[in-house]
Amino acid sequence: MARYKIVGGNRLSGEVTISGAKNAAVAILPATILVRGKCRIENVPDISDVRILLDILKDLGASVSREEGGVVEIDCTNVTSTHPNPELVRKMRASYYLMGSLLSRFGKANVALPGGCNFASRPIDQHIKGFMALGASVEETEDYVNLTEGPMGLHGNRVSLDVVSVGATMNIIMAACLLPGRTIIENAAKEPHIVDLANFLNTMGANISGAGTDTVKIRGVESLRGGTYAIIPDQIEAGTYMAAVAAAGGNVLVRNVIPKHMDCITSKLSEMGVQIFNYDDSIRVISEGRLRCATVKTRPYPGFPTDMQAQICVCMTIASGLSKLTESVYETRFFGYCSELANMGADISISGKTANVNGRKKLHGAMVCARDLRAGAALVIAGLAAEGTTYVGNIGYVERGYERIVEKLTALGADIQRIED
Ligand code: EPU
Repeated sequence: MARYKIVGGNRLSGEVTISGAKNAAVAILPATILVRGKCRIENVPDISDVRILLDILKDLGASVSREEGGVVEIDCTNVTSTHPNPELVRKMRASYYLMGSLLSRFGKANVALPGGCNFASRPIDQHIKGFMALGASVEETEDYVNLTEGPMGLHGNRVSLDVVSVGATMNIIMAACLLPGRTIIENAAKEPHIVDLANFLNTMGANISGAGTDTVKIRGVESLRGGTYAIIPDQIEAGTYMAAVAAAGGNVLVRNVIPKHMDCITSKLSEMGVQIFNYDDSIRVISEGRLRCATVKTRPYPGFPTDMQAQICVCMTIASGLSKLTESVYETRFFGYCSELANMGADISISGKTANVNGRKKLHGAMVCARDLRAGAALVIAGLAAEGTTYVGNIGYVERGYERIVEKLTALGADIQRIED
């Protein structure tokens, strides 16, 4: 087991380069199953979720090679299996995208239920509803989802999602790609990674329009060919470094970002007193003096992302005044980290969907434990901002989604080490 040891109190300065977006990469890699030919994908983050997916693809018969600098080449032409290794599938959440891509290419898929961060109940009923609308027969057991072609065959159709779901939107896009006819997804999610998946698939020959709006249209094509595609920068990784600067203080240029994707985060940090300057593909973040309290409500994109809830909460714990943080996507997400922050001196009381955060002047170091990816990132930020030494355990969660986090923070002047126990 490894831990991070963080000696807090250093201001952050210099430059940090953001990696490719995790939640785009974990959809685009399974989407290569739809392609007959070689996909050269650039800006792929080197994180454990990506490594697991590459292992799953190799195991299915894909040829996979990885070069330095985040380039991955995948050729799924010779894939024949529709039963991905269940042990690997259960190690992460986004393995559910194998259902949509295998169904579209082979007309069947037998995929174990996914694992991953367990901060809330995370049903996949909307994915299943979509597959059924496209003509699939679905058999669900306790551990597996078995998809086959239904009696009317697989075909495009209209699917209206009951909840705005990132995963269901992307899975249905993939499933519809190679089916005859037109699919229309209504009440679709609009996150940047959905646009990125659609752009990837269109580059390979798909016909998808409307991604990034609440209505996505997919006209099925016969086949996709290989090509080259670069994944967008990670909105949440960038937001995490911005929150780290806000909390620890400092002056940092965050490079390789799409500032537009950061608007919802930028405006909240500005309200809290952080100075932010947007350039073409970078953002300067300057934090001096004490932060101010704020009111934040998480929402699907373009709202404030639930994946930034924990990191902004840390900023609130040391801001002056009473902040209110309301979660509207995953109600139970607070429980992954608020008690750990309390061990560091934070004053947080949770009432239903809202955390009331009474800002203290300082947090203090403590032994804390990550319970999911973003909770872990928040504890790292808290450690950087706290007085004294913090040990963050269970860092496997953090390394699911943050590439070289220790190296990147060290380069900014943080005192953080990865310790093998
Ligand atoms: N939901 C349903 N039924 C479904 C699907 C979702 O009721 O079939 C509900 C969920 O319970 C939740 C809401 O809809 O209340 C939104 O869930 P969504 O499907 O959008 O979440 P997801 O696709 O499972 C992705 C990200 C999460 C991120 C959420 C919300 C990936 C692999 N994961 O999850 O990222 O929190 O969207 O933006 O893309 C993370 O990166 O740390 C992370 C957890």
